[in-house]
Amino acid sequence: MDKSMAQSRRYDKSLAMHQRAIASIPMGTQTLSKASISLVQGAGPLFLQSGHGAHVVDVDGNRFVDYVLGLLPIVLGYTDPDVDAAVREQLDRGVSFSLATPLEADLADRLIRLIPCAEMVRYGKNGSDVTTAAIRLARAYTGRDEVAVLGYHGWHDWYIGTTPRNAGVPEAVKRLTHAVPYNDADALEDLLRRRGDKLAAVILEPSSKTPPLPGYLQRLRELTQRHGVLLVFDEIITGFRIGMGGAQAYYGVTPDLACFGKAMANGLPLSTLVGRADIMRDMDKIFFSTTFGGEALSLAAAIATIDKLERENGPERMWRLGERLIAAVNGALSRHGLANQISMGGEGWWPRLTLHPQGAASAEVLGALLRQELAERGILFSASFNLCLAQDDPAVEAETLAAFDGAAAVLREALAGPDPRSALRGPLVAPGFSVR
Ligand SMILES: Cc1ncc(COP(=O)(O)O)c(C=O)c1O
Repeated sequence: MDKSMAQSRRYDKSLAMHQRAIASIPMGTQTLSKASISLVQGAGPLFLQSGHGAHVVDVDGNRFVDYVLGLLPIVLGYTDPDVDAAVREQLDRGVSFSLATPLEADLADRLIRLIPCAEMVRYGKNGSDVTTAAIRLARAYTGRDEVAVLGYHGWHDWYIGTTPRNAGVPEAVKRLTHAVPYNDADALEDLLRRRGDKLAAVILEPSSKTPPLPGYLQRLRELTQRHGVLLVFDEIITGFRIGMGGAQAYYGVTPDLACFGKAMANGLPLSTLVGRADIMRDMDKIFFSTTFGGEALSLAAAIATIDKLERENGPERMWRLGERLIAAVNGALSRHGLANQISMGGEGWWPRLTLHPQGAASAEVLGALLRQELAERGILFSASFNLCLAQDDPAVEAETLAAFDGAAAVLREALAGPDPRSALRGPLVAPGFSVR
């Protein structure tokens, strides 16, 4: 038995808090994906109370290396000293003001220097603020109403109407958005041929679960240009992870507009729409205005985060860490004879789990068993290695790989038995909503 198994973790306070929370908060949380990180009831934490560097501590006092990272905003590490110092300094000066602050242009200078398409910049709080701003701006600029989407773009009507979770979205709104498969340029070409003169924008995650096929983004650039449709990159996940200039710099394809959020302020709420000046100037014609758009703590945090990521060569180090984790985890899965059922794929910047169901070992059961056994060994994991710089530490890497090795040993045993579900420590939690 590996050492980390010596004492079984308990989640009594988490479970009690969950009962309390669901009485007053629908789903018990503000973010749907956070409701189902632990797929087995009672076999993982439900509430966290603190985080430092690569680690978080739950309300029962269990400590984990966190590979969820708040769903990707944490890019340096929890309570990063440089970011927190910048935030504290700003806190002493004030948070929200009656006029703009110089921080807005200080951050804009950095974004314009780093991101190829960024000639002008606006801020929001959530990713959805700026994807919606991009679509409204594209509609105003082109005078067209329809949009094509390829990925996840937030909770607002124009996008979420294309998903199974579309209750409350009017049919008239749904009809304006076309969901197109990723990495299939022919499908987009076909849509453009049929609806090109009605389309304002094509918005896509330039890289996601799988990277773009060679030439795919270039072809999208050509096709959209040919039809006078704006190309919008949703870089809310790729931004400041795949590289400092986003996927557009990495793949050498410059969109007209791009959306960033999540990692840009190491956990403080900030997003940005950037793009070509001639388009961004049409912001004067549309309405995109929020009380907290210029909130100062997040802007100070973003400046400190971006400066540190550049100084520390952040994206490159995270790529290398991710590549090491992919190789080592796949090695452990092979050693335990699990390579045909579970594998780690994706690219170094965002390694992702692939589950290959077989019989009773459905993808749901495989994923639940893996998360359960990783949590037992001090690893908070969902479906990907969400990376931050604080994880680039030999001790954290060793802790992670020991946990995967121990978890794989348990899975091997569970899968060898008549019903792998008997190894689950509690009932399965209904899976969240997935668009990838
Ligand atoms: C690619 C992408 N776009 C947009 C969003 C929406 O961002 P937010 O949840 O901050 O509104 C997300 C959130 O997960 C995302 O991953």
